[in-house]
Amino acid sequence: MSRLYSSRKRILVTGGAGFLGSHLCDRLIADGHDVLCADNFFTGDKSNIEHLVGEPRFELLRHDITFPLFVEVDEIYNLACPASPIHYQHDPVQTTKTSVHGSINMLGLAKRLKAKILQASTSEVYGDPAVHPQTEGYWGHVNPIGPRSCYDEGKRCAETLFFDYHRQHGLEIKVARIFNTYGPRMHPADGRVVSNFIVQALKGESITLYGDGQQSRSFCYVDDLIDGLVRLMDSAAEVTGPINLGNPREFTMAELAAQVIAATGSKSELTHAPLPEDDPRQRQPDIGKARQWLGWEPRVPLADGLERTIAYFRGLAVA
Ligand SMILES: NC(=O)c1ccc[n+]([C@@H]2O[C@H](COP(=O)([O-])OP(=O)(O)OC[C@H]3O[C@@H](n4cnc5c(N)ncnc54)[C@H](O)[C@@H]3O)[C@@H](O)[C@H]2O)c1
Repeated sequence: MSRLYSSRKRILVTGGAGFLGSHLCDRLIADGHDVLCADNFFTGDKSNIEHLVGEPRFELLRHDITFPLFVEVDEIYNLACPASPIHYQHDPVQTTKTSVHGSINMLGLAKRLKAKILQASTSEVYGDPAVHPQTEGYWGHVNPIGPRSCYDEGKRCAETLFFDYHRQHGLEIKVARIFNTYGPRMHPADGRVVSNFIVQALKGESITLYGDGQQSRSFCYVDDLIDGLVRLMDSAAEVTGPINLGNPREFTMAELAAQVIAATGSKSELTHAPLPEDDPRQRQPDIGKARQWLGWEPRVPLADGLERTIAYFRGLAVA
């Protein structure tokens, strides 16, 4: 799809070489925009965006958002932040800095440019939720001093900063609370459940279920999620969020394991390991606001999304 020159925007995507960021860059380039991808390559990889290098409307910048950035853009998608526990717990101080200092730097840039800015927040702001499914009005149940806090509290503080810049400086903000998303370009070793199960199944290794495997999650395919982010950015100024983006269809970990085994044709068996600390039992978005404000809901069924993701991991030759 190409755009008229007048509607072509210059868009900064922080974390653009990561899983979600690279799909967002693809979408924005396909929509006819100029994209500046800024990434420090902590968890992102050049292979995720190498097909865009050479495209005249795409620029790549190695940059750590905990340091100020001076560029000229019309919109900012702030996705930079390691998203999986293995990665965000590797250097927890840097994780908090990325959410807090990084947000301050990006909000400062948006303020100077009068640019619209979107924050990739997370369902982790709800912690181990006492309310199910989670609506945006729920304030969460988060441990402030545990091993996940660098991520959860960092993201909560980032939301606070976004809303204070909005109230205090009139900035046009958008806050998306993203629930578990999966798809091609997930890091094969990031310990997230979908990639874990697929890699274990393709290798014929036993599939590890934490606890009794009855904890549930909802899984959103990456194309659906990216469509939600773009709709949110394009929504009316009064739509600030926070807004849940995810797939409300719930699966237990045991059900997911069974689907992955069936789709890969694997002979893997199931093993059990203790539940990690602060691991939520249930996680399911209420997407009523996304439906109402953005006309958005996920469309890709788990079976189709798994098929595309499995094909990607087969291509990486992880087996
Ligand atoms: N994937 C999900 O299911 C999910 C769920 C909720 C929220 N999110 C949020 O979406 C965003 C993207 O997640 P993802 O799954 O693509 O993760 P990812 O780890 O693949 O991508 C994050 C990107 O940010 C980069 N990065 C990290 N710290 C940086 C820094 N200080 N400066 C510049 N770049 C930095 C990494 O190198 C990587 O390319 C994150 O903010 C994450 O918290 C993702």
